[in-house]
Amino acid sequence: MNVLVIGGAGYIGSHVALELAGRGHSITVFDNLSSGREENLHPGNALIRGDIMDPLALSAAMAKGFDAVIHLAALKAAGESMVEPGKYARNNLSGTINILNAMAEAGTRILVFSSSAAVYGEPAYLPVDEGHPTEPANFYGFTKLEIERVLAWYDRLLGLRYAALRYFNAAGYDAQGRVRGLESNPANLIPVVMEVAAGKRPELGVFGDDYPTRDGTGVRDYVHVSDLALAHAQALDALASGSASLTVNLGSENGLSVYEILEAARRITGTSIPAKVLPRRPGDPATLVASSAKARDILGWEARHSGLDSIVETTWRAYQRSGA
Ligand code: WQD
Repeated sequence: MNVLVIGGAGYIGSHVALELAGRGHSITVFDNLSSGREENLHPGNALIRGDIMDPLALSAAMAKGFDAVIHLAALKAAGESMVEPGKYARNNLSGTINILNAMAEAGTRILVFSSSAAVYGEPAYLPVDEGHPTEPANFYGFTKLEIERVLAWYDRLLGLRYAALRYFNAAGYDAQGRVRGLESNPANLIPVVMEVAAGKRPELGVFGDDYPTRDGTGVRDYVHVSDLALAHAQALDALASGSASLTVNLGSENGLSVYEILEAARRITGTSIPAKVLPRRPGDPATLVASSAKARDILGWEARHSGLDSIVETTWRAYQRSGA
């Protein structure tokens, strides 16, 4: 299929573009390179440098004729979204509306959309399945949920069929080293730990050690980005084969604490990785772990690369390769 991957130069987008190209799809990346890296593009992938805030650029791109769109372009820092909601509304909401309208205009009716576990907010039960209440605790999660609601209407009114993929905590790097770009100024746990290991940061701040978890630190469901990429390819295949629109969680179903990540990173990197306990970060739930049963049933998806060592080792190799 001829696929437009919007945000395809980013961390997750470049892994998705890699997986799709490996399956024989013809990939064009649409990216403004604001956070994505041109070095992440792979031979044979065309690049249209453009911004989702530019409807004319999107119309011109869509006019080239694509069978499907993968949309991963979004601002994703939950904390920042609470301080700058306008920036998130403009980029995540208006930007996606621009994409949907350009798709409708061009007659492209298959979309795989990068959603997030942030749509759920504080878990009422665990593991979190797709029937869990959606009460986002931050504006970022709200934008993802609102986009899902618009998608349901575009399906009903315009026949745009979609897969909304609710990622839990994306982590890891391509085991063959084919994605090289590191996130700049990361806020997520694993890249921060890697920067300390690489000597780019003095120490890790642990946001609270008094949670009701096995060791007091926050527990999350880390899912390898290559597993996420596979799910995008399987969702695309399902939609291309006529599947109705679908919404699924993508998580490893395995919860890991901050201290467990820290211990594995010290063991694998062979560095001390100094850490100190700080106050809790507002809005952080103690534990967030997925049920991915629906993705298994509908897509046949399995998270095969999401073990602790695989996630830490592949990330550490990416930091060593970059000479971080
Ligand atoms: C993980 C754990 C922190 C940094 C966020 C977004 C979510 C999604 C994934 C896009 C928590 C602890 C972290 C640090 C720490 N993004 N931590 N020190 O908050 O689970 O999810 O990224 O879809 O929408 O909210 O990820 O990596 O920030 O935190 O102790 O320097 O690590 O408290 O327990 P989070 P995270």
